Amino acid sequence: MSTTLIPGIDRVLFTEEQIEARIRELAGEISRHYQGKTVKLIGVLKGSIFFLTALARHIEVPVKIDFLGISSFSNKSGAPGVVRIAKDLDESIEGEDVLLVEDIVDTGFTLRYLLQTLAGRGPNSLAVCTFLDRNSRRIVQVPVDYRCFEIPDRFVVGFGLDHNQLFRNLGYVAALKPDKSA
Ligand code: IMP
Ligand code: MG
Repeated sequence: MSTTLIPGIDRVLFTEEQIEARIRELAGEISRHYQGKTVKLIGVLKGSIFFLTALARHIEVPVKIDFLGISSFSNKSGAPGVVRIAKDLDESIEGEDVLLVEDIVDTGFTLRYLLQTLAGRGPNSLAVCTFLDRNSRRIVQVPVDYRCFEIPDRFVVGFGLDHNQLFRNLGYVAALKPDKSA
């Protein structure tokens, strides 16, 4: 039922059941790593919300949650990679064990900017957990500590990821029909 295709969707890459099972595994790894600590999950709005809440429910150490919003745009020559914080965190991360939660790491520009910014605020530790990783398109090298799934070079939607703000609420991850993502 959850994987009924809607117009614009080409094929399902990960079903709701596959996502849930993989998130449980990842939450187990995270719980073991942060044993005896409190982990602060920082979600990057809006794409990471669905992943962050699913993940948080299965983490077995104390969890704090905060969010930041970013906007990214091209520079004058049309190259991507200009990122700024549009909505900052509500609280300080000084001395905290921070796990930055992303929807997808693509070129790596967004993550590099966020890691530089957050590292300057004195966290006790700073790690990265991404729902999807499209490593084949990486331009800048960034550390990814936890990833749910590696994906092929296709534009994807669902489970938080959007196309023109649509499709975030799909329970599965799907590739868009090629002409839709142009
Ligand atoms: P990066 O800076 O190129 O790594 O871009 C990462 C951001 O681009 C993600 O946080 C998403 O918001 C967006 N993005 C990249 N690929 C996709 C995709 O396939 N579907 C939806 N959003 C994407
Ligand atoms: Mg994003």
